[in-house]
Amino acid sequence: MSSARFEPSGSLRGNYTPPADKSISHRAALFGAMCDEPVPVRNYLDSADTRSTLAALLKLGAGVEEGDGDVLIRGVGLRAPLEATGGLLDVGNSGTLMRLLPGWLAGQPGGVWTLDGDESIRRRPVDRVAEPLSAMGAGVEAREGRFPPLTVRGAQLSGIDYELPVASAQVKSCVLIAGLLADGSTTVSERAPSRDHTERLLRRARVPFQRDGLRLTVSQVDELELDEIVVPGDASSAAFVVAAATLVSGSRVVVKGLDLNWPRTGFLRIAERMGAVILGDLEEPGTEADEEPVGELDVASAPLEGTVVEPAEVPAAIDELTLVALLGAFADGETVVRGAGELRVKESDRIAGVVEGLRGLGAEIEATEDGFIVRGDGTPLRGGVIDAHGDHRMAMLGAMAGLASTDGVEVVGMDAAAVSYPGFERDLRALVA
Ligand code: S3P
Repeated sequence: MSSARFEPSGSLRGNYTPPADKSISHRAALFGAMCDEPVPVRNYLDSADTRSTLAALLKLGAGVEEGDGDVLIRGVGLRAPLEATGGLLDVGNSGTLMRLLPGWLAGQPGGVWTLDGDESIRRRPVDRVAEPLSAMGAGVEAREGRFPPLTVRGAQLSGIDYELPVASAQVKSCVLIAGLLADGSTTVSERAPSRDHTERLLRRARVPFQRDGLRLTVSQVDELELDEIVVPGDASSAAFVVAAATLVSGSRVVVKGLDLNWPRTGFLRIAERMGAVILGDLEEPGTEADEEPVGELDVASAPLEGTVVEPAEVPAAIDELTLVALLGAFADGETVVRGAGELRVKESDRIAGVVEGLRGLGAEIEATEDGFIVRGDGTPLRGGVIDAHGDHRMAMLGAMAGLASTDGVEVVGMDAAAVSYPGFERDLRALVA
């Protein structure tokens, strides 16, 4: 485990291109593997998580040719006699792989696979996918009925009408993918809009797919066909730089090539409400498109005020809510996040981690069951030491806190950043040079 120190920086300035989107990279590779014809994926994210997806697909018989940031996936087809039956599929640290891949495997009659991963994955619930897949006819077993390892026995599935008990794009995607293989049609209803990258790929693949408000219906298909997929910049990775540019005075950063998909840009709307200066053409809510909207943001530092984040806003900012806590620690007044209990089952318990971490740097912050409350007076955090607890986003949060602090921050376990963003320190240092 490596530590890294982040001293208070001068302003962040210049153009910044974030790494490729993690969610879209996972989906592009998985959908590519389900196609009969090869699918080129341009700008595939090179990170530990997305490598786990390529390794799992290789094990299932797909071909993966890598070169120059691009990947060519030679698929095995939607209903292929998948190889490695009985085999163990290692998802590493990736919750997205752990929840999406079973959707495909569940619809392969006669196949049996066990998915497992690292220590963090073994603490994260999978009953949320086991339940709908069992209801569709698959045999699914989890440790204590709830945790990985997860064994999936494929079957001829039947379509269901499923109401998601948790707002989760991963579970939604799992059921929609299983729906491609299930008799009849499959409907998933969500309570609040979550990221819709899977839906966009389904539309691109010309799969019979309808959306009626928060109800999504997909029908069984014989095969999948997709042409080239170009992965845009990751809004969640970019959010760290947006936060630092907002907090460190005199900063001005232009973020290029970013995915501006509405359910991914909730953090930007919350930050703007707090006073952040972020110019850019964010997508309108409810947009039904095949492609991801790609654009740029112009971010400048600004003083902030506290805000309240309501439960309905949570899914569109789920991976950035710890950054809302960081902004709140520098803002004037109270910042409250509610309805974000899902943060407790991410790569780490992010409510406990952010409260313990920012408190150690001088913040006045307390945990609630499903969120946190931060009180600031508009002055910077002092600094200190923060432990990433093996969580990539907590490591990067600590780094941002350091740049904006008065005394600097040491991040214990900085190497965790490589799960989603291996070039993080290099990109950051280029902006503060
Ligand atoms: C993701 C969905 C979110 C998010 C995760 C990636 C996805 O998880 O936190 O980082 O790619 O669908 P949940 O669906 O569990 O909220």
